Amino acid sequence: MKHLHFEEIDSTNTYLKREYQNLDNLTFVSASYQTNGHGRNARVWDSIKDKNLLFSYLIKETKLIENYSHISMFNAVLVSQFLEELGIKNVSVKWPNDVYVCGKKIAGILLEGEYPNYLVVGIGLNILQELFPNDLRHPATSIVLELPNNPDLSLNGCRSLLFNKINTFWSNFNYDWSVFDEYLKTHNYLLNKEVRIKNNNENIQGTVVEIDASCNILIKKDGKIYTVNTGEIEIIWTL
Ligand code: BTN
Repeated sequence: MKHLHFEEIDSTNTYLKREYQNLDNLTFVSASYQTNGHGRNARVWDSIKDKNLLFSYLIKETKLIENYSHISMFNAVLVSQFLEELGIKNVSVKWPNDVYVCGKKIAGILLEGEYPNYLVVGIGLNILQELFPNDLRHPATSIVLELPNNPDLSLNGCRSLLFNKINTFWSNFNYDWSVFDEYLKTHNYLLNKEVRIKNNNENIQGTVVEIDASCNILIKKDGKIYTVNTGEIEIIWTL
C-alpha cells in the first residue's frame, strides 16, 4: 500500500483525479487540512486542521470500477465495522454512502471517477472534533464524542488501522459481491423510515424496506415496491 500525506491540499479527491495516471491501484492520500474539501452534490466539506480523518484512495481495477454502487456501500460498511471494532455501539450505514451513530453522521463518502479508467473513494471521518456548527444539514458526531474515555485515541492510530482494513479487504477480495448482504440487513439506518428520494427528476415517497443484493434501495409506496439505484434521500420525520 502506498500512502502520501499532505499538511495542506485543495482536496485529496481532486489530487487523485489529477494524478491517477501516475499512481498505482490502492494508493492512499491523506491531508491534515483541505482548502477545497467537498462532499456530495458539490457541498463544502469543512474540517478543522488535524482533527478528523480526510483521505481518498484510488481504484484502477475495471472489475471494481464497474460495480460503483457496491464500492460505495462497501466503503460505508468498512468504516462502520471499523467503528464497531473500536467499541462504538449503534453504528449503521445510511444508503448510499454515509455512516451514522445513534442518528448522527460520523462519516461521509464521495466517489468520483471516470469509467473505465479510475475511481476515487474519498472519506471524511470525524475523529477528534468535539463541537459542530448548529447549521449542518445533519447532526454530527465524532469518535471522541462516542468514546470519551479513551486516552489512546489518536488521528494517526485511526488512520493506520482504517487504511490497513481497507487495503486488506480489497487485496483479498474475491469478487463475492454478497459478502456484506447480511451486515447491510442488520445495519440499515433507513430501515422502516419514511423517506423522499429525488431520482431522475422524479420524487418517490415511501417506506424503506431493504437494500437489495445490487445495493439498490427498495421503497414501498401504496403496496408497490420501487427499486432506486441512486438519488438524494431525505427522511420524513413525523413528530
Ligand atoms: C458527503 O457526505 O457528502 C461526502 C463527504 C466526503 C468528504 C471527503 S474528505 C476527503 C475527500 N476529499 C474531499 O474533498 N472529499 C472527500
